[in-house]
Amino acid sequence: MEKLLFADIDEPGLGTLAVYERRGGYEPLRKALSMSSDAVLAELEASGLRGRGGAGFAMGKKASFLPKGGMDKYLVCNADESEPGTFKDRELMQKSPHMLIEGMVIAAHAAGANRSFVYIRGEYALQADILEAALVEAREAGYVGEDILGTGMTLTLVIHRGAGAYICGEETGLLDSLEGKRGNPRLKPPFPANQGLYQGPTLINNVETLCTVPSVMRMGGEQYAKLGVETSTGTKLVSVSGHVLSPGNYEIELGTPSREIVYDLAGGPGEGRSVKCWFPGGSSSPVLTAEDLDLPYDFNSLSKAGSMLGSGAIIVVDDRTPILDVARKVAKFYRHESCGKCTPCREGTNWTVKMLERIRVGEATPMDLEIMASVQEHIIGNCLCVLGDAMAMPIGSMIVKFRDEFERHIEAARRSRDSDGAAGSDTALTAQGATSSGREPVLVGTQGGAAQGGD
Ligand SMILES: Cc1cc2nc3c(=O)[nH]c(=O)nc-3n(C[C@H](O)[C@H](O)[C@H](O)COP(=O)(O)O)c2cc1C
Ligand code: SF4
Repeated sequence: MEKLLFADIDEPGLGTLAVYERRGGYEPLRKALSMSSDAVLAELEASGLRGRGGAGFAMGKKASFLPKGGMDKYLVCNADESEPGTFKDRELMQKSPHMLIEGMVIAAHAAGANRSFVYIRGEYALQADILEAALVEAREAGYVGEDILGTGMTLTLVIHRGAGAYICGEETGLLDSLEGKRGNPRLKPPFPANQGLYQGPTLINNVETLCTVPSVMRMGGEQYAKLGVETSTGTKLVSVSGHVLSPGNYEIELGTPSREIVYDLAGGPGEGRSVKCWFPGGSSSPVLTAEDLDLPYDFNSLSKAGSMLGSGAIIVVDDRTPILDVARKVAKFYRHESCGKCTPCREGTNWTVKMLERIRVGEATPMDLEIMASVQEHIIGNCLCVLGDAMAMPIGSMIVKFRDEFERHIEAARRSRDSDGAAGSDTALTAQGATSSGREPVLVGTQGGAAQGGD
């Protein structure tokens, strides 16, 4: 399988300028700077590269939306990596910080930006330190700053550490946070391309998207577009976690069968266990089942199947895990992270957690399941940003796909409560139908902390 981002990832010393340059680093930047901004933009558009942060918007097109003219323009790299199960940006920044810096300078050239920022989650202190060290080297070598490589291009680059909130990964919440305010999403339009950071034209891209830019320049847009499938070109880092034998980041060509990623690369759930469901794109993506494992892993195939590629984080849940535990874990995370600005999200996430608790302690009736399903429907599409949907989509999909199990759980927990004669017995139905307190489902990658799904 062709590797671009991870081709040299385990090369000792790749984080240093000397080794990065020895492996051909900063050659794509030299090539880009010998071309006009429009020509670089045309390469990005020809590549078909879609954003790797979640929404999958075409990167070249987004860069082309920035107005022309001499005003300050901004490039912001989204390094918040807050979607549970996602840990690919961390590895990129930790092992290949110059790839990100190079990608940013090329992207800034294409978009005409003169100021740039990396907004990195607070928990990534090590990665932020590594980036800072790489930035010092890049500045000294003339790749960042004034008159870059004697071409007259100026680009300032600041690394800004966030304080740790899921909502600061949402692009407009991120901009508010970067401006020193509380990270609350803004109403769109205006979109950041017109009115973003400090009201100026702003291009925001994910770490992986920007790290891919040097490969596009090296290969040429058309050549890059030959990798992957028509609507999902190139390669993608997939963070695989949960019940698999070899969790980790894997670079795949888009369109690779999902089964190959889960079983051949990540080792599958192990002897005697099977896949009960999987989140294909982080915890906010609707769950798919084992029957969907033959789907090609690309934007359109997953969306046609009713889910999404999202941040490219596959979380595997095995057959021994009660779906109720998975749902509670997901709902609690989004309740905790809701900024509270809009009612459907603020109240809906809270109600959902409460109803799931009612099921757990044996106080729910099958009617609660109907109410819970309808709460999810009322959240979707009715919020300022998609954090509300990010809970409603997976929970809604669990109710549809595992309704029987929820119903059996409601029954079993009620019976257990009646026989105990007290509320609050911690019962959970396992997939086999036994009642037990169950294990905590694994919904995180290799990260911990509240922002990654802890509650
Ligand atoms: C609640 C929420 C959280 C998000 N978190 C992240 C994140 O941690 N990292 C990221 O790159 N994009 C995140 N996004 C997507 C960004 O809003 C934005 O689409 C992305 O940074 C654009 O970059 P891309 O086009 O390169 O994907 C999030 C979106 C939402 C709604
Ligand atoms: S959907 Fe939730 S997180 Fe997003 S703005 Fe509304 S309340 Fe805040």
